[in-house]
Amino acid sequence: MSKKVAMIGAGYVGLVTGACFASQGHRVICVDVVPEKVEQINAGITPIFEPGLEDLLTHTRSEGLLNATLDAVSAIKEAELVFIAVPTPSKEDGSIDLSFVEEASHTIGRTLKEAEHWKTIVVKSTVVPGTTENIVGKIIEEESGKKRGADFGLAMNPEFLKEGKAVEDFLNPDRVVIGAIDPKSFDEVKALYEWTEAPVLKTTPTTAELIKYAANSFLAMKISFINEIANYCELLGVDVSEVAQGIGLDERISPKFLRAGAGFGGSCFPKDVAALYSHSKHLGREMRLLKATLEVNKRQPLRTVELLREEIGALTEKSIAVLGLAFKPDTDDMREAASIPIIRKLIEEGAMVKATDPIAIPNAQKILSHSNLEYYETISDTLKNTDALILVTEWEMFKQLTPLEIKSLMRGNIVIDGRRVWKPELFQKHGLIYRGIGLGRRDNKSI
Ligand code: UGA
Repeated sequence: MSKKVAMIGAGYVGLVTGACFASQGHRVICVDVVPEKVEQINAGITPIFEPGLEDLLTHTRSEGLLNATLDAVSAIKEAELVFIAVPTPSKEDGSIDLSFVEEASHTIGRTLKEAEHWKTIVVKSTVVPGTTENIVGKIIEEESGKKRGADFGLAMNPEFLKEGKAVEDFLNPDRVVIGAIDPKSFDEVKALYEWTEAPVLKTTPTTAELIKYAANSFLAMKISFINEIANYCELLGVDVSEVAQGIGLDERISPKFLRAGAGFGGSCFPKDVAALYSHSKHLGREMRLLKATLEVNKRQPLRTVELLREEIGALTEKSIAVLGLAFKPDTDDMREAASIPIIRKLIEEGAMVKATDPIAIPNAQKILSHSNLEYYETISDTLKNTDALILVTEWEMFKQLTPLEIKSLMRGNIVIDGRRVWKPELFQKHGLIYRGIGLGRRDNKSI
């Protein structure tokens, strides 16, 4: 059955969720505070880069199922389900900043005061365990004078979308988690997911909140684990890719999220692991594995610079190409990207940096600017006259580069593979010095 949904926050999660619900026949109004974003959505243009999203916007808008507005109150009044999909950034100390969630809860509460019909309020933002019941539910009750369970529903429904694959992930979920305070709230949210055959988990809101954090923390921990193994492999003359393959074939481990490299970035893993760690510490049960996961990840991007230094010596006045700026391929997102500490370190050590990325340059320019840093649109302009290159983001176009092309463009012959995408033997055969994360030099055993 078609439902009326208000999506508070038309950011990455809100817009993808809203457009995907609309694609399944639900009527969705996205609410945002940025007028340009609202205008863009209403013109069928996506404000973010996400494959498949623009088609979905055009299609659902033409059917009258998706709209955007600045007017939260009217949108909430109209809706049967109100989703909170606002940002939950990190504070300086790593703990979560819930001010946008609180603000949305106040607006919802005030609007609910006048509401005649039942509405279910659903938290989609990633929030620390306890937030939906203790903060969102409490604020709404205080503002509206109404009671959860009796006058309105309350649920938490985490998202498990990967950037660049968000639409695909949403429409083909591994599972749907619905943490609801009562059966009615659960049924209301479940009705939105009638189209999927994925298992639906019925939990409390607090359990749902923790499932989201635990999932991201586990994946992040897997990456830091393989990066630790990678750094150790370098001392043994062992290739971490072979180790990852060897352990990944064990079904209990699986080969996914076992790619060693320059570390994890993005808007989720670093922030969510830090928030969960900070919350556990606050409650007096510090999760030490999470602390270690973050520490390993902080150090990891700089391994690329260390490998470079081992080959080139001092970096003063050396010209270094950086291939890839975004935190991962197929996105222009620069949040917590490994390229940031790498480029800063190169500049700090006196190098001249030439950087490129297929789409993230405009975002990178907002974060990284220095007289010793230049951005180039093409690979050939980037590599020209450089002494070495560091591959930071494994875009397909970089993976396709051959040793011959690289050799013909560069002045020097040092290649640092920060994502282990190239075949070392091919590079060595063409007279290039290849160093990769987690690949020991067989002549350089310290054992
Ligand atoms: C991540 C999760 O994968 C999603 O399930 C989750 O919904 C999302 O966070 C979120 O909380 O919103 P995302 O940040 O888009 O998704 O990106 P991932 O594809 O998970 O990659 C994260 C980082 O880990 C990237 O920097 C990537 O390069 C790195 N990574 C990933 C590795 O270094 N090795 C791997 O094997 C896999």
